[in-house]
Amino acid sequence: MTSSLSKIAINPPVHRIQPGGPFNRDWFHQKVSVMGLKLPASRTTEFMKHPELKGHLLRLPKVKGVVNVENDEHTRLLLLDLTEEDPIPEPVATLAEKNSIEVTPYTIDLDYDYWTAEEVLKSILPEDLIADMPTAFAIAGHLAHVNLRDAYLPYKDIIGQVILEKNKGLRTVVNKTDNIDTQFRFFKMETIAGEPDTIVEAHESGCRFKFDFAKVYWNSRLGTEHERLVSLFQAGDLVADVFAGVGPFAIPAARKGSLVLANDLNPSSTHYMSANCQDNRVQDRVRVTTMDGREFIKHAVIEAIDNPFVNIRPLLSSKERSKQARSAQPPPPPLPVQRIIKHFVMNLPATALEFLDAFKPAFTQASHATKIRELYGSGGLPAIHCHCFTRELERERAEEDIIRRAEEALGTRLSNPSLHYVRRVAPNKDMYCISFQLPVSIME
Ligand SMILES: C[S@@+](CC[C@H](N)C(=O)[O-])C[C@H]1O[C@@H](n2cnc3c(N)ncnc32)[C@H](O)[C@@H]1O
Repeated sequence: MTSSLSKIAINPPVHRIQPGGPFNRDWFHQKVSVMGLKLPASRTTEFMKHPELKGHLLRLPKVKGVVNVENDEHTRLLLLDLTEEDPIPEPVATLAEKNSIEVTPYTIDLDYDYWTAEEVLKSILPEDLIADMPTAFAIAGHLAHVNLRDAYLPYKDIIGQVILEKNKGLRTVVNKTDNIDTQFRFFKMETIAGEPDTIVEAHESGCRFKFDFAKVYWNSRLGTEHERLVSLFQAGDLVADVFAGVGPFAIPAARKGSLVLANDLNPSSTHYMSANCQDNRVQDRVRVTTMDGREFIKHAVIEAIDNPFVNIRPLLSSKERSKQARSAQPPPPPLPVQRIIKHFVMNLPATALEFLDAFKPAFTQASHATKIRELYGSGGLPAIHCHCFTRELERERAEEDIIRRAEEALGTRLSNPSLHYVRRVAPNKDMYCISFQLPVSIME
């Protein structure tokens, strides 16, 4: 049934298709006969709110409950939740009689546009495929991304087409063609409907991101997590993003006033991240590198000391810039030079915990050991935000599991770690973010 709000059962017509067989949108034309109260137009609102009609009015999604009467602009039809065969409930009949209102049949015309993608697919795919139907898909910009199991592949073109037609704003539907995710966390894919265009423009945290979805990692479901971490950073903080992708932490952080060392081993990610920095006007406050994460952690500690961001002024909005230009005021003073990293972000959940073993060598590098102790001894060691997966689905056991693995990799105990649950990524796998301040023992 389309809606639990209505007693009238409306189901899309069933036309099971064959692989490669025809698919005709006209199959979905359907006439539904209901009853209506023929009212003077001026009394429509009164009757819509009438207590005797409560529970008897038609309430179907995308179907108007009040319709015009042909060639009679003074009359309306208030539709009832009744078919022609149904007896008219006593209160409705009495009300109609008292007010000399005619109860009359009306035909609602439904077509392909009326049904949701799920309803269409349920009525065309073979019955044995309905239970596990692929209704969930992720969207990045104009592109929807499905992950069809083998049994659905003979129907992939139609599944893609229905998803495309039923979701405004989509131009492309792709399907994963294998399940082996690469080191760089993107999947092989094929276009199953629409334009074969995987260059996507997505918007998140008030920033614009352009990238090739077929070559880099992007997950629209992480928007809240990106915003959560960025909200912890202060203007002027120096932040290091070890697995930065195309910049969904780094760029909003820089827009907020942080200075960012952003790294990714995938050259396509860093190519798009650099372009996105330009596009969002933060190229002077995000430094992009293409290194392995362990190497980057060591590099970032030294880079911050030897080559800090200097002469970076607070970012002004376009309104503030034009106000400043008009008033001929001097620009705001540069941000204080930061030689210590305040936050490390590590979002590579499959293996990021293992990369924690890079912190001890990074903070004991012979060439800078004294300087590191001096700077971080007084300024405080950075907070680490490390994403990870666990198969422990109970909170307490998940905490134990993650903290144990983090301590093992770091080679030291953590005094005050906190865990944030991000999302369930598979029936038996959760994603968390562990945050903690690097212990002082890391410098010994
Ligand atoms: C899960 S994605 C996260 C990207 C981004 N931070 C985000 O939230 O969308 C992990 C990123 O780590 C990168 N990566 C994988 N192995 C790496 C390594 N050894 N060193 C540095 N980056 C790596 C991948 O290319 C990918 O962009």
